[in-house]
Amino acid sequence: MLPRLREEIAGSGGWISFARYMEIVLHEPGLGYYAGAAQKFGPQGDFVTAPELGSLFGRTLARQLAELGSREVLELGAGSGALAATLLSREDLDYRILETSADLRARQQARLGARAKWLERLPERIGGVVLANEVVDALPVHAVAWRAEGIMERGVSLVGGRLTWSERPASGELLETAKGLSAPAPYESEIGLVARAWMRELATRLDQGAIFIIDYGFPHREYYHPQRSMGTLMCHYRHQAHSDPFAHPGEEDLTAHVDFTALAEAASDAGLEVLGYATQAQFLVNCGITEVLAEANLDNALHYAPLAAEAQKLLSPSEMGELFKVLAVGRGLARPLLGFARGDRAATL
Ligand SMILES: C[S@@+](CC[C@H](N)C(=O)[O-])C[C@H]1O[C@@H](n2cnc3c(N)ncnc32)[C@H](O)[C@@H]1O
Repeated sequence: MLPRLREEIAGSGGWISFARYMEIVLHEPGLGYYAGAAQKFGPQGDFVTAPELGSLFGRTLARQLAELGSREVLELGAGSGALAATLLSREDLDYRILETSADLRARQQARLGARAKWLERLPERIGGVVLANEVVDALPVHAVAWRAEGIMERGVSLVGGRLTWSERPASGELLETAKGLSAPAPYESEIGLVARAWMRELATRLDQGAIFIIDYGFPHREYYHPQRSMGTLMCHYRHQAHSDPFAHPGEEDLTAHVDFTALAEAASDAGLEVLGYATQAQFLVNCGITEVLAEANLDNALHYAPLAAEAQKLLSPSEMGELFKVLAVGRGLARPLLGFARGDRAATL
């Protein structure tokens, strides 16, 4: 990975944006973290996502899909295929997957076989339900610093052969976006220009239906809170979280929290409605996670205990319940959706 980064940095005059760095270390074919063959998901991997914990998340989400009554599902970034496997075990769905990693796509195909179809790119027109669980946090972000001398873009250079942060004045869309955020200098954070463009692209293609973005993150007010002055970048290496994005390039996950206000605005700009925004816990409770749990055989502790542990991880405020949010945007649907019947926080976006 280092020779590839050296070549890229040298070819770009000694400096690349952090977004470009993130794109290479995560997604470069054959080299990037998601492109490589390392075991990423589950207990042996670097992190555990909600669908990887078991089937409870998928079975609960299935109730929201059932309410929408659509057979068409497009899942973006399906990881090991765990969510698809749960949803397809219950319903006969027209299930399509768009996956950028060739390695993960092969894993999904081995797991799901003919039950799903894989796309090379976004379809021209989209209808039904779009799902993206922990995908937006993997999209490249631009790193920005608000300094006394002005707004700087934080990029990556090589000093003495080592990758290091290096700043230059921000310009263009990044500068304009940064100016619109009231961050108090000195302050460092991230701006998801790629995520905004990704959302706009999806939104303009959606004829009828709903897009569910499930991820960790905040609305603007919390994202750019004066106390969050070091941003939200996180690295995950074998279940250890740390904050040095140059420690294991290509061998670890690198993420930033999701700016849900920006995603909602991008969707609205493209003519979609915000259908709801809630914590993961609230969304799952609204969808009936307790009923799904009750379907389990309560007398059989061997069966029930793992499910209860899974529910605890999904719902607990100290685990995924509060930090993870669900944002739904869409067109042509009656509100409220089941998942936002109570505790909808769309007004905070
Ligand atoms: C953290 S994993 C989450 C996987 C899965 N959704 C889950 O919850 O277990 C991120 C996934 O998104 C994929 N991915 C990253 N960028 C993508 C993009 N622009 N379009 C589609 N998939 C993408 C990665 O290859 C990987 O499968």
